Amino acid sequence: MLLDLLILLVTIWLTHFLIGEMRKPKNFPNGPIFYPIIGNLLTVAKLRKETGFLIRAVMKIAERYSNTKDVIGLKIGKDLVVFTMTTKALKEVYTCSDFDGRPFGPFYETRTWNKRRGIIFTDQDFFQAQHRFIVRQLKEFGFARKGMLEICENEAEFCVNDFRKLIENHGGTSATVNMPNILSMYILNTLWQFLAGIRYDVDNQEMRYLQGILSDLMKSIDMKGALFSHFPFLQYIAPEASGYKDYVRCHKNIHAFMRKEVERHKRNFNPSDEPRDLIEAYLKVLHVGDESGKAHKSFSELQLLGICLDMFIAGSETTNNASNFMMLYLTRNPHVQIRAREEIDRVIGRNRLPKLSDRPNLPYCEAIVHESLRSFMKMACGVPHRALKDTKLCGFDIPKDTMIISSFMPPSMDTKNFKNPHKFDPENFLDVNGNVVVPENFIPFALGKRRCIGEVLARTNLFLLCTTLLQNFYIEIPDGHDIPSEEPIDSMTPNVRDYEAMIVLRQ
Ligand code: HEM
Repeated sequence: MLLDLLILLVTIWLTHFLIGEMRKPKNFPNGPIFYPIIGNLLTVAKLRKETGFLIRAVMKIAERYSNTKDVIGLKIGKDLVVFTMTTKALKEVYTCSDFDGRPFGPFYETRTWNKRRGIIFTDQDFFQAQHRFIVRQLKEFGFARKGMLEICENEAEFCVNDFRKLIENHGGTSATVNMPNILSMYILNTLWQFLAGIRYDVDNQEMRYLQGILSDLMKSIDMKGALFSHFPFLQYIAPEASGYKDYVRCHKNIHAFMRKEVERHKRNFNPSDEPRDLIEAYLKVLHVGDESGKAHKSFSELQLLGICLDMFIAGSETTNNASNFMMLYLTRNPHVQIRAREEIDRVIGRNRLPKLSDRPNLPYCEAIVHESLRSFMKMACGVPHRALKDTKLCGFDIPKDTMIISSFMPPSMDTKNFKNPHKFDPENFLDVNGNVVVPENFIPFALGKRRCIGEVLARTNLFLLCTTLLQNFYIEIPDGHDIPSEEPIDSMTPNVRDYEAMIVLRQ
């Protein structure tokens, strides 16, 4: 009798639970039915395997289920997730402050000592105070003063000199190299000099090791998180299989590196000295407060480590992968190199290296940079946002705490804006007179309060590396090699496949 009652109660509870798990919020964006516990995880995983890309998987689902082309509503584990599928929806997310939050969960907090720290995954007052500080530092150390620009120009020069040495070591005229990530150290150096005032040699083992960890980390996660973020219990029952253990290990290694750097700064710190990098400026705020005489409560040493971690991840992975696309397409398109080189020779010549101030006179080279960013972003998603309150998106109801992920494919592939969206073609950004035209809807660095803070640095690096390399080298497909594939790899941000190219010294 008692057992029967127990079975009945468990059955009622289970039925109630299962119905609750499958129920969709009222007027939620359309999408497949939610299965209990897993939601749409299996559908997304299966289509992702078939199509090779998260965003292609979501597009396939949208084709089948959506009653609008703007947004699609899914549930992954415990999380309601809305994907934007049009430029209109993307712009609405980035310009409406209701969507300025960042999601909660172990994926976002494990990386910063189980607290909400850093810049990328914090929000509201905490984020605003820290964001203000970093943006001011970028302006003060950065491009308002000459310092940062000089750092970028110097790194491009280091790159050319290292390539020359490499060619010399290969017999004097050319060297065949593995191309992906060939510029990563120079890109990282510009960022790291801003953060910590240090530059590393191209073969510095410690930094190479750190970059290796970072690239493994990026391959194992994506913009909607990792398995353990949607199913938090997996971090306890399947830490290995859910990716939790690797995630923690990678972050521990990166933390140890950042902590060493902060400790070094602390040993040499004198509050009355003018800060020379971001870490010193932050330590100064911790010691003597900001210009108002006291520091916002969000400032702490742990938060400084969180900022270093986030800037390192956000700044190196993105620009590095965008530069990988730039190098891939230059390798695949000798005619683009010829035209760029002709422009560089005409405007700058061969007796000095390109500078950022040459950019207005090098429209074709600038168009290559825009086109490389477009090629990189066409398969990319933004960092997840969170609805800070119950709100509306494209006419649908979005409950508080829903995760919103924006696809950058629509603004990057718009046939109204680009003559040739499916091809790598710098002409996509040039008018009939050869002047650069950037469509208003082309927004690789996003918009609004959560837009990228590293845009100027990223654009500067891409332009200087592109022009400096083309001025000094030809980039060719080695004899007997196939044309490298342009099919990207799905990762935290898209990346190129492995390939080799020959760098030939210009005489
Ligand atoms: C080609 C290079 C880059 C691209 C395409 C890019 C793109 C973006 C995009 C689209 C966002 C918005 C994220 C969102 O959806 O909320 C973003 C945010 C961010 N970016 Fe970049 N980025 C690049 C380089 C950099 C660099 C060099 C830095 C560091 C100096 C950086 C630091 C950040 C940070 C800290 C955020 C988070 C801002 C926030 O949470 O409000 N990025 N980036």
